[in-house]
Amino acid sequence: MNDTLKRRDFLGAGAAVLAASALPSRSAQGRARKYSNDFLFGAATAGHQIEGNNTNSDIWFLENIKPTRFGTRSGDACDSYHRYEEDISLLKSFGLDTYRFSVEWSRIEPSPGQFSNAELDYYKRVIEACDKNGVRPVVTFNHFSCPQWFSALGGWTKPRSVDLFARYCDRVARQLASGMHMATTLNEPQLRRIQHWIAGLNSAASRATLDRQREAARTASGSPEYMAFHLADDDAVQANLINAHKQGYAAIKAVAPTLPVGVSLAVVDYQGIGDGSRVNEIREYVDGAWLRAAAETCDFVGVQNYGRDLVGPKGLIPAPASAERNMLTLEYYPAALGNTVRYVFEATRKPVLVSENGIATSDDGQRIRYIDDALAGLRSAMDEGVPVLGYIHWTLLDNFEWSLGYWPKFGLVAVDLKTFARTPKPSAYHLGRRARAWK
Ligand code: FCB
Repeated sequence: MNDTLKRRDFLGAGAAVLAASALPSRSAQGRARKYSNDFLFGAATAGHQIEGNNTNSDIWFLENIKPTRFGTRSGDACDSYHRYEEDISLLKSFGLDTYRFSVEWSRIEPSPGQFSNAELDYYKRVIEACDKNGVRPVVTFNHFSCPQWFSALGGWTKPRSVDLFARYCDRVARQLASGMHMATTLNEPQLRRIQHWIAGLNSAASRATLDRQREAARTASGSPEYMAFHLADDDAVQANLINAHKQGYAAIKAVAPTLPVGVSLAVVDYQGIGDGSRVNEIREYVDGAWLRAAAETCDFVGVQNYGRDLVGPKGLIPAPASAERNMLTLEYYPAALGNTVRYVFEATRKPVLVSENGIATSDDGQRIRYIDDALAGLRSAMDEGVPVLGYIHWTLLDNFEWSLGYWPKFGLVAVDLKTFARTPKPSAYHLGRRARAWK
């Protein structure tokens, strides 16, 4: 497996493409679009990646079994569980106005049906800290990690996962929805499809790795049904995840009818190369069912993009050898963002929120260029008529990048993992300046 494949296998990452033909062209529209003052400009995080000691979650468990695919354990992470006020006021100090974060299901419902008022109150304080700083909270109800008990019951492979998720959404919404600006149900639920096609649709090697992990998880948990999101066979989970999104959406809207609720999709900018490219087949395999679900059951669609994939008649084509790369050796291709928001809008006709976009790089100058280039593409798409509600950069803090550990640097702010001192990078102030100049 080359590095690109490895990184995608671990993360998935964003993406999709174009077909701009159905959109009004800039010339057809005849004038530059006015940008709304309501446009959100912010940074994102996810609970398990920054809070630390998320000990009731399945990912914590998977980090600690043998063999494990996790190179490092999350441990204290960025200790944001205790330092959220500092994080939010830092974000504000850059000139950003939106904070996307996730609430951790495993803290809120540590045992089936037992909801912790203390943890719900905790997240209420996070929302209040946003409010105090004039920052708008965009809340993800589930960002990959699930309670360990949920995965021990079979996780998303079981139809009952749908009701369990909807019950959790109902409880969270009752306590917290009134303070939220927007919400998304699930984060990148089609990630497994991206990973499957990249890994050659279940190549023997990827199957064997997965099988070893599952076996280890089943032995260590004592549950023959154990299945976490990242270990699941895609086909076994897709239908349940789609229903979970729909039921979760309904549960939140029943409590908070005016709260905008969506789902955050990983959207790769798939670009067809040559005659007989498999690009449409890949798009349908990865995105098709989700774009249809989003068109039906979403107030907006969250787009998360990290680049493009070139697709020929035989599948993935490597990026040009001369391409600029990031620290994960993936191609530097910020233009993918504009392409993916067009693609998602065209397929769903729903407003789009860029809920993640960013780059792993130890060169902050490259991040600054990336931000400018990605925003230029986004603006062109908006000029063509794509309704974009905001741009939320991944990520506020250098953090726990899942099985890769702490070495990939996606953050606007560096974090000392011993002292937890936060050191903003020039890109943080740059993004803030771009936010102020945008409106
Ligand atoms: C996305 C995930 C996010 C982070 C970034 C780099 O796929 O949603 O948690 O890992 O990639």
